[in-house]
Amino acid sequence: MDDFRTIIEPFRIKSVEPIRLTTKKERAATLERAAFNLFALHSDEVMIDLLTDSGTGAMSAAQWAAMQRGDESYAGSPSFFRFEAAVRDLFPFKHIIPTHQGRAAEKILFSVIGGPDKVIPNNTHFDTTRANVEFTGARAVDLVIAEGKQPSLIHPFKGNMDIAALERLIAEVGPARIPAVFVTVTNNSGGGQPVSLENLRAVRAVCDRHGLPLFLDACRFAENAWFIREREPGQRHRDVRDIVRDMASLANGMTMSAKKDGLANIGGWLALDDEAWAERCRNLLILTEGFPTYGGLAGRDLEAIAQGLEEVVHHDYLRYRIRSTEYLGDALLAAGVPIVVPTGGHAVYIDARTLLPHIPPLQYPGQALAAALYLEGGIRSCEIGTVMFGLAPDGTEHPAAMDLVRLAIPRRTYTQSHMDYVIEVVRKVAKQASELRGLRIVEQPRQLRHFSAKFGRA
Ligand code: F0G
Repeated sequence: MDDFRTIIEPFRIKSVEPIRLTTKKERAATLERAAFNLFALHSDEVMIDLLTDSGTGAMSAAQWAAMQRGDESYAGSPSFFRFEAAVRDLFPFKHIIPTHQGRAAEKILFSVIGGPDKVIPNNTHFDTTRANVEFTGARAVDLVIAEGKQPSLIHPFKGNMDIAALERLIAEVGPARIPAVFVTVTNNSGGGQPVSLENLRAVRAVCDRHGLPLFLDACRFAENAWFIREREPGQRHRDVRDIVRDMASLANGMTMSAKKDGLANIGGWLALDDEAWAERCRNLLILTEGFPTYGGLAGRDLEAIAQGLEEVVHHDYLRYRIRSTEYLGDALLAAGVPIVVPTGGHAVYIDARTLLPHIPPLQYPGQALAAALYLEGGIRSCEIGTVMFGLAPDGTEHPAAMDLVRLAIPRRTYTQSHMDYVIEVVRKVAKQASELRGLRIVEQPRQLRHFSAKFGRA
């Protein structure tokens, strides 16, 4: 393949799902009905669904075949042991606890280690992670490097943790109030940006000095490892599996959503070395998820994940995956659309605040842009900005660090012509940017408001 410029999708399509083509007129009515919240759309009203890369990927023939041998025994299913072995092959933690998705692992872990007075540092907490930390009364602190907050600044590892800021936080609150340090790979809320091995080692060294455990929020671990292979000195020749094992060896545990780099449609796990925490987590698991050998999943789901973990670290897959996201990013940049650079692993993030300077952050430029992309081309994207992060627990509202619109690419699902269409639509909307108007919130819940808030024109 090295002689050719085109990196083909390293699969062919065995079974297809029709896309219902809609008109702009239909979509205008749909958008009003949804009160400008794209989570309220029915997915058959969407033509290209880039809302999330989570659980939306296509499974392989081998995964569907593996599902057939799913053993649905309540306790001790061989499907669990295959799942456990597949996880442990990459992440050799002592205790591997299956959950129905990532946030269930977060909920259980933070119920055990969080609580009022506690502080959890992370490069950037994802929204459910932050919500689960705050739900226990603990404080979630984001400590990504300064470069990670500047959309137009190029840096190979914009997801890195600010080591000096971590030291300062520990000095300020004291290690006793920090039950664990988290690092999210890749840093989803900061643009799908990777964290280097060097940075993970530095975080580890800080944790060692203060006796703190380090946990990975590892949802997109394989994409992160591919970036390490591509960008970190001395890593080029390495097998991605070994890079993943290096990442794991620096941590004491992890939370995981198998809906991302598990290549599955549902699932997750919590893994950790600490006996006492694992015991308490398993007790909670039984209350909320299920018995520890299935934890909220069917045996067939455990099989799909086990096979997915085998496939996600293939170099051909990762080369295509990262390149196809970059293909979209490159085309938008060439069209003058401001995006977070370099392009992340699972998504392209449009910098809506820069594209729409006439819309103030508290009129949600990201939400306005996402609505326009839907209206124009039936594309569903997701605001990651002031709607998602602007509401503080005390009810006050502040602009988020950035107002981004995420075009998340489901794994192995869309082809290059789908992306070419997306490029055309974004280009057209960007040309009319000055005509877009802001929004106001008409109705909202107190937590995770982006899922259900209703908007009107500002
Ligand atoms: N951590 C990160 C970094 C995530 O991106 C997500 C989910 C979770 C945890 C929670 O996992 O959905 O299985 O409960 N992110 C999805 C997204 C929803 O669209 O980025 P989950």
